Amino acid sequence: MYNLFILLLLFFIAPSLAKQSFRPKALFLPVTKDSSTLQYITQITERTPLLPLNFVLDLGGQFQWVDCDQNYSSSTYRPARCRSAQCSLARATGCGDCFSSPKPGCNNNTCGVLPDNTVTRTATSGELAEDVVSIQSTNGFNPGQNVTVSRFLFSCAPTFLLQGLAKGASGMAGLGRTKIALPSQFASAFSFHRKFAICLSSSNGVVFFGDGPYVFLPNIDASQSLTFTPLIKNPVSTASAFSQGESSAEYFIGVKSIKIDEKVVSLNTSLLSINSNGIGGTKISTVNPYTVLEASIFKAVTDAFIKASASRNITRVGSVAPFEVCFSSENVFGTRLGAAVPTIELVLQNEETIWRIFGANSVVSVNDDKVLCLGFVNGGENTRTSIVIGGYQVENNLLQFDLAASRLGFSSLLFGRRTTCANFNTTSTA
Ligand SMILES: *[C@@H]1O[C@H](CO)[C@@H](O)[C@H](O)[C@H]1NC(C)=O
Ligand SMILES: *[C@@H]1O[C@H](CO)[C@@H](O)[C@H](O)[C@H]1NC(C)=O
Ligand SMILES: *[C@@H]1O[C@H](CO)[C@@H](O)[C@H](O)[C@H]1NC(C)=O
Ligand SMILES: *[C@@H]1O[C@H](CO)[C@@H](O)[C@H](O)[C@H]1NC(C)=O
Ligand SMILES: *[C@@H]1O[C@H](CO)[C@@H](O)[C@H](O)[C@H]1NC(C)=O
Ligand SMILES: *[C@@H]1O[C@H](CO)[C@@H](O)[C@H](O)[C@H]1NC(C)=O
Repeated sequence: MYNLFILLLLFFIAPSLAKQSFRPKALFLPVTKDSSTLQYITQITERTPLLPLNFVLDLGGQFQWVDCDQNYSSSTYRPARCRSAQCSLARATGCGDCFSSPKPGCNNNTCGVLPDNTVTRTATSGELAEDVVSIQSTNGFNPGQNVTVSRFLFSCAPTFLLQGLAKGASGMAGLGRTKIALPSQFASAFSFHRKFAICLSSSNGVVFFGDGPYVFLPNIDASQSLTFTPLIKNPVSTASAFSQGESSAEYFIGVKSIKIDEKVVSLNTSLLSINSNGIGGTKISTVNPYTVLEASIFKAVTDAFIKASASRNITRVGSVAPFEVCFSSENVFGTRLGAAVPTIELVLQNEETIWRIFGANSVVSVNDDKVLCLGFVNGGENTRTSIVIGGYQVENNLLQFDLAASRLGFSSLLFGRRTTCANFNTTSTA
């Protein structure tokens, strides 16, 4: 009798102990691209019972926000009470009541934040809350067991904030430089390095939380041979709504000059730095499908690209919206790095640190591949940020963000190493 009791006890205790002692090395989220909005979508499993939800990935987003008005049902939902540690982590100083029946997104004595739809640039207020998140771990090669964050912080939002997001999205997942964005919350939940990486493609991609290796089939570790550049903090928030003194949660880098086929493009370089009002500079955004350039930079870069293309005997043709500069694909041969068009170089902190943009990331094939358009768009005059490096330009490049060291590691186009961002093994055996 006694033995049986011990046996049963072991039986019941062992699995829960095993679960608690498992410390993931890293985590990952799968990403897909929505073909109609060109947004990158990630699936995150949340709530009790667990429910997979789709979120638009927002590299510079401040936190995760989710529509709480439609069908939010979870036994583990907890609003963040005024003056709690959660509110201070979120820098949520406001405190409020809700004059309707209590439900997720509507509770008394809670602090609120400003969920931001960065696609439509619309912000509103939302209740800060916690719930369960389940996420797959990885050793950097393959998927491992799922792990749980029991008190994951996010913001509720009203349904109307979903306007402009891909069909089926329940909100946005922010990877920005705040304490409640996904990277910082996962790093503190599992005590790993405050590093994360994104690797996007036109089909499947992946976000890693934690350090490398980040291994893509056939056994290529994209965390090896990264080039590093400092991440720059913009002292003024770039969100749609913010309070005074707040800095930007987005990731800026220091582009010093631009070269096309090794020739320097003449630009007004004061646009390349961030001024005291937070205007200017270069950021990376997954919410912009294509790179957006301030009008004078757009003109200088496109003129230089057209000239360099002409000397390669590439013929210009009429524009195809949203692109202004297009070419016949006739004289353009294909290479491992995409169409053989002029190479665009972003020169960073010194002449040796260069982000090279090859054909696969610079030109977009349209009209049944008969036309190739430069995948850059004109942002007009008076842009808040002079260069916004968009999604198409980072596809199949691994970008690692090291928050502690405040630096970005970039791999350059992985086609050069005979792999792609779609090649991470997301197929678990379980
Ligand atoms: C919410 O639930 C209702 C009824 O179950 C369903 O008809 C509706 O499609 C659901 N809405 C969402 C956004 O899931
Ligand atoms: C909040 O408190 C007010 C005043 O006591 C009450 O009328 C209201 O129903 C409460 N709302 C919630 C969501 O509990
Ligand atoms: C782990 O999570 C993934 C997605 O979040 C899900 O597809 C899979 O079924 C889960 N595995 C287990 C063993 O629960
Ligand atoms: C360069 O840009 C700065 C910042 O927008 C502007 O103040 C200045 O007038 C520009 N200089 C020229 C020569 O256009
Ligand atoms: C340039 O293109 C024209 C027309 O397609 C072709 O006849 C010519 O041979 C090309 N010249 C070079 C140098 O490639
Ligand atoms: C992918 O990962 C699964 C589970 O970890 C493993 O069983 C499978 O062999 C891997 N596939 C490849 C192609 O490595």
